Amino acid sequence: MPDLSLEQKAALVVGGGFWATASVEEAGILPVVLTDGPHGVRLQRTRVGALGIASSVPATCFPPAAGLASSWNPALVERVGVALGEESRAEGVGVLLGPGVNIKRSPLCGRNFEYFSEDPLLSGELGAAWVRGVQSRGIGASLKHFAANNQETNRMTVSAEVDERTLRELYLSAFERVVTREQPWTVMCSYNRINGVAAAENHWLLTEVLREEWGFRGLVVSDWGAVEHLGPALAAGLDLEMPGPQNDSVDAVVAAVRAGELDQVVLDTAVRRVRHLVDRAGGEFGGASGGEDSSSSTRFGAHHALAREAATESMVLLRNEGSLLPIDTAQAVGVIGEFARTPRIQGAGSSQVSATRIDTALDSIGALAPVEFAPGYSFDKRADEEQLRAEAVAVATRSDVVLLFVGLPAEDESEGYDRANLDLPVNQLRLIGAVVAANPRTVVILTNGGVVSLEPWHDSVPAIIETWLLGQAGGAALADVLFGRAAPSGRLAESIPLRVQDTPSYLNFPGDGDIVRYGEGIFVGYRYYETIELPVRYPFGFGLSYTTFAYSGLEVSHRGSIASVTVTNTGSRAGKEVVQLYISAPTGGISVPRRELRAFEKVSLDAGESVRVQFTLDSRAYSYWDVVSSGWVVAGGTYVVEVGSSAHEILDTATVVLPAPRPGRLTLDSRVSDFLGHPVTGPILTRAAAGEGESKNTNLLEMVSSMPMRRLMRFPGVGESFKRIGVLLALANNSAVRGIATFFHKR
Ligand code: BGC
Repeated sequence: MPDLSLEQKAALVVGGGFWATASVEEAGILPVVLTDGPHGVRLQRTRVGALGIASSVPATCFPPAAGLASSWNPALVERVGVALGEESRAEGVGVLLGPGVNIKRSPLCGRNFEYFSEDPLLSGELGAAWVRGVQSRGIGASLKHFAANNQETNRMTVSAEVDERTLRELYLSAFERVVTREQPWTVMCSYNRINGVAAAENHWLLTEVLREEWGFRGLVVSDWGAVEHLGPALAAGLDLEMPGPQNDSVDAVVAAVRAGELDQVVLDTAVRRVRHLVDRAGGEFGGASGGEDSSSSTRFGAHHALAREAATESMVLLRNEGSLLPIDTAQAVGVIGEFARTPRIQGAGSSQVSATRIDTALDSIGALAPVEFAPGYSFDKRADEEQLRAEAVAVATRSDVVLLFVGLPAEDESEGYDRANLDLPVNQLRLIGAVVAANPRTVVILTNGGVVSLEPWHDSVPAIIETWLLGQAGGAALADVLFGRAAPSGRLAESIPLRVQDTPSYLNFPGDGDIVRYGEGIFVGYRYYETIELPVRYPFGFGLSYTTFAYSGLEVSHRGSIASVTVTNTGSRAGKEVVQLYISAPTGGISVPRRELRAFEKVSLDAGESVRVQFTLDSRAYSYWDVVSSGWVVAGGTYVVEVGSSAHEILDTATVVLPAPRPGRLTLDSRVSDFLGHPVTGPILTRAAAGEGESKNTNLLEMVSSMPMRRLMRFPGVGESFKRIGVLLALANNSAVRGIATFFHKR
């Protein structure tokens, strides 16, 4: 790169501002604007405050990931991505900072509203759809936060201590899916350390796994403020430190190159990637607003309608005893709860966008039926709660049906800190009790970004809707669902436990100081609850409709690579079902969850209609990460393919028997069990052992089976056949020797 000086190159790998890359005018290198993300465009044109938080331009506020994920609808998420891409383009944004595909390890993570799921397949499929949509408009995505950023407590310093199998199967898996399928323009490294090494300086993560294994071709950007030492970060595979400018970083890089401590090639590579990003952002679709074919008001109108559709699919109907819902417009409707009037449409922190408009539930419900409203509680701690409760009870008593809005106040969950418990505020719990006592025909409508406990009031309430955070059109969408103008079709993307103590990471969250041990391993969310048969309030994947569905005729063919099942709408209304396919793997030698989600599809069916749903399963659906061979392995044995409506409600099953992988080379360090399991040496040893009288003690072989062969042979009195180990190894590992032996044996 002869056109740039060393100083210019070093300046290019550091941001030029809070929200833009650096520019080099002489070389025609323009800045690229990067902005949050993920559920709306948060572009700040005004001067930013000390923390970079400032008001932003109006943008459509779609449901944040927690809601969107409950749609289980990649096609819908892709359309949201397209809309986000269009709004980014119109504002001259080159990269939209999302999606966040970190796994919801604990429901207490303060930022769970910004993440999709406790399951990597669902997170990965939805993240990929989001990237596909955004990038289809010539805008780059920034897949974040790579990796193992599953809590906010000490997020800048904590080390996530995670074993490799758990990383591969859970915490890296969604990133892998998005990278290999969609090639996001950028990946954002996280703040935390992983097994002691900062993500920004983690060569294994940023280079070996991301680039060499997964083939990532884009740019790695730091999370804002994640870089401590830019030189080592570049050497590890980072390409761009944000935000900037940071003169000390630039100076340090220049000095390191001059001193020969940082290879010039490393810097050139990062510069090349920054320039590639600049070219892409100014490429075919051209950076700033020019060329837009629709006015912002038309665009915002269409996107508001899309936000309403997304919100409709994001809410989850959890309970509907006696078909209380949908409600009849002729009834006297009592609307209780401040959230109905003052909605919380998104979470707090860097993702907060300035909505173009907000539909409140109170207005939207009021447009469909006569309502009487009482706030019931206040977000102002000085309010007279008793008085508010008394008014609410009076409204409840006069109503045919009560819509009771409760949830987490904005300050309870945010980027930057975690939650201490799963509980609703005490004043709201009291309100639920008082309102239900006054009118049992009560629908509880929940507003929260992370899971809240439904105890102890759950059983006393006939209907519950979990709306998460619904974005700017949530009120209208909710009214549609409440009055049956739209059917609820969301499904839980995370389990709702009975108690916070039941959550698998409970004893290891948020860790001890700067160390958090992922002691539960792969058993996160339903993988844990289903395996140890621990009851939850609502399982992963659960959600009701206004109709019912039946499953039949599951067939699995082509050695497990194709599965199909018939799903029928058995009720009297149209509805959407999320058909979930889980695989239950054989438990041979390694610990496996009771079942794992391996495919899903959302289908829309009229009353009485049937559809045959077909799934394609690749070998990964049957694999686990083998730490010995450092690779994905399909264990031989019987797999149960299960389809159902949640991780707990399996409605049809079929089995597939898969062959054991070809045995690896045997050595003296192989275990006796490897020799016994080997198709050549196994029968020889078993026969020989029997011949030597070992069969009398049938447990003997089993007893020594975990011993490395070398160690067994040191025991005096080991049988002759074990001693002729050289012959056994030759037979096992060398097909020519095997051939000769077979020839003589046959003669
Ligand atoms: C957040 C990122 C965000 C960035 C820029 C960070 O604090 O973790 O998600 O994209 O700030 O606002």
